Amino acid sequence: MIRPRLGWRVPRVFAHRCGGALAPENTLAGLHVAARLGLRAVEFDVMLSADGSPWLMHDETLERTTNGSGSMCETHDTDLRQLDAGAHRHPAFTGEPVPTLAAAARVCRELGLSANVEIKPAAGFEARTGEIVGRSVLALWAGAELPLVSSFSETALAAARAAAPDLPLGSLWECPPADWPARVDALGACTLHCAATFLDDDLLNEAREHAIPVLCYTVDEPLTAAQLFRRGVAGVFSDRIDRIIDR
Ligand code: G3P
Ligand code: MG
Repeated sequence: MIRPRLGWRVPRVFAHRCGGALAPENTLAGLHVAARLGLRAVEFDVMLSADGSPWLMHDETLERTTNGSGSMCETHDTDLRQLDAGAHRHPAFTGEPVPTLAAAARVCRELGLSANVEIKPAAGFEARTGEIVGRSVLALWAGAELPLVSSFSETALAAARAAAPDLPLGSLWECPPADWPARVDALGACTLHCAATFLDDDLLNEAREHAIPVLCYTVDEPLTAAQLFRRGVAGVFSDRIDRIIDR
């Protein structure tokens, strides 16, 4: 399978969920914090609303990160627009909206941030989410460097690939299975993402043989990050973007 390449060099540090621990997760405020701290890249999660629109959201339910309640995939756009995604983090962020993917794309482009869009489908919506996010990313980043699009769901990634063949894809696992090279190849993915805790040297050697950059989440200790880079990890996702500096 042809493997569309990233049009940009993998930066060493991605702000996890937009602004890491320094802002409410998956918000535009997070993107501004990341840019302010000199980050070149951000990661965020995208899920569909009841209307099939892509929004930045990590959980299938709204309670943890917003003042709403219930299931994301049963909530309509008109109701999502009313939610506050900042107050739970700190009163200073009160009024921060849940962003659409379109709003996040606009801010990333304005701030010059490279993006890793993680497709985060609600259960049962894997293919639909992959297809819509794939198509949306192509349209929203038209004329700019395309984001890296990743997912724990291979169904979502395959649907994104079918809808947007030129998208660079990242194969995302907590712990990659033994046959990860074949699966990366089947998807035409260009990067492998995994939990730092499950990384071992066999995997790194195999990735090097296949010329696949490895990215690890979630790394918050500078010493751990330095060790990972020395071992050959290309990039890390971090909540502590005030401590892990991309040099
Ligand atoms: O994409 C890396 C990381 O974001 C995966 O975990 O749960 O934070 O989306 P999660
Ligand atoms: Mg994520």
